[in-house]
Amino acid sequence: MRHFIIDCDTAEDDIFSLFLLLHKGMKVHGITVVEGNVSFPVEVRNALWASDFARRYFKVDLKVYPGMERPLIKGFRTVENVHGKGGIGDSALETNAKPEPKHAVDFILETADRYPGELEFLAISPLTNLAMAYLKDKSLPEKIGKVWVMGGTINGHGNITPAAEYNIWVDPDAAKLVFNAGFDITMVAWDLITQYTVNEEWEEIKRMNTEMSQLYINFYTHYRNFAMTRQKMRGNPHPDLITTAVALDQSVATRVERQFVDVENCDCLTRGATVIDYLGVLGKEPNVNVVYEIDRGKFIAMLLDLLGGQRV
Ligand code: BDR
Ligand code: CA
Repeated sequence: MRHFIIDCDTAEDDIFSLFLLLHKGMKVHGITVVEGNVSFPVEVRNALWASDFARRYFKVDLKVYPGMERPLIKGFRTVENVHGKGGIGDSALETNAKPEPKHAVDFILETADRYPGELEFLAISPLTNLAMAYLKDKSLPEKIGKVWVMGGTINGHGNITPAAEYNIWVDPDAAKLVFNAGFDITMVAWDLITQYTVNEEWEEIKRMNTEMSQLYINFYTHYRNFAMTRQKMRGNPHPDLITTAVALDQSVATRVERQFVDVENCDCLTRGATVIDYLGVLGKEPNVNVVYEIDRGKFIAMLLDLLGGQRV
């Protein structure tokens, strides 16, 4: 059995990443929430809604642990223009569920102690929770088996700034700590995933008429419109979901290279950029498995399989 914590700034793609993990039968020990996409209370509420949904649909009990509400050092901004005010478009998800009183950082540390070497941390969000956990326990990189990171760029094409991807840009100090701490990291970059959008499949998904497919269309419509108009994409991207697919089945990643990656945290034009030492000129040990290509067919098949279940 594989053990996961999913760390979210809970918007549409984060929620579907959770659903894909559960659909594939993974043991998800908890959802930790961190600052990012939308206001923190909305992110927590979305995570609680997702755990309610998961209880009914996947028959699992899932707890939500709110974590860091802001980056380690500097400020950041949320991106309601990208994901809508509710993170799944402009409407709000409602739930009466309550989060756990335990802080996400303590939950991460306790779970890593309980499953040494086995726990996998799916970081589809800024890295503040993981960095804080590491600051509290410097042996965490030996205790966490794998860290799957949605973040950064491989060709320098950012989304929040010309050079930086949002998750890393929100808290580059946290990312710098995490990348240099000795975790077993696999990185799925923004400018990789933009090549693998859902295009004409959108209409096929609309026709599926399952509970999951309807939810998908509702949740991703805002993001799709933003991506196709403002980001000039052919369809809607899935940064978090592709990272999850790679974590679930490593054969989804068809080209992976081990390289030294660092993070720029200056107050400058390139703040939050990931710097990859392609030629090894820094003479540092490689610290990240960088994904350069994925099997689109495999990813789309996983997505359609998730969406096809349980007809309405
Ligand atoms: C990443 O930032 C967020 O907007 C998304 O949820 C994704 O994790 C993409 O840059
Ligand atoms: Ca995310």
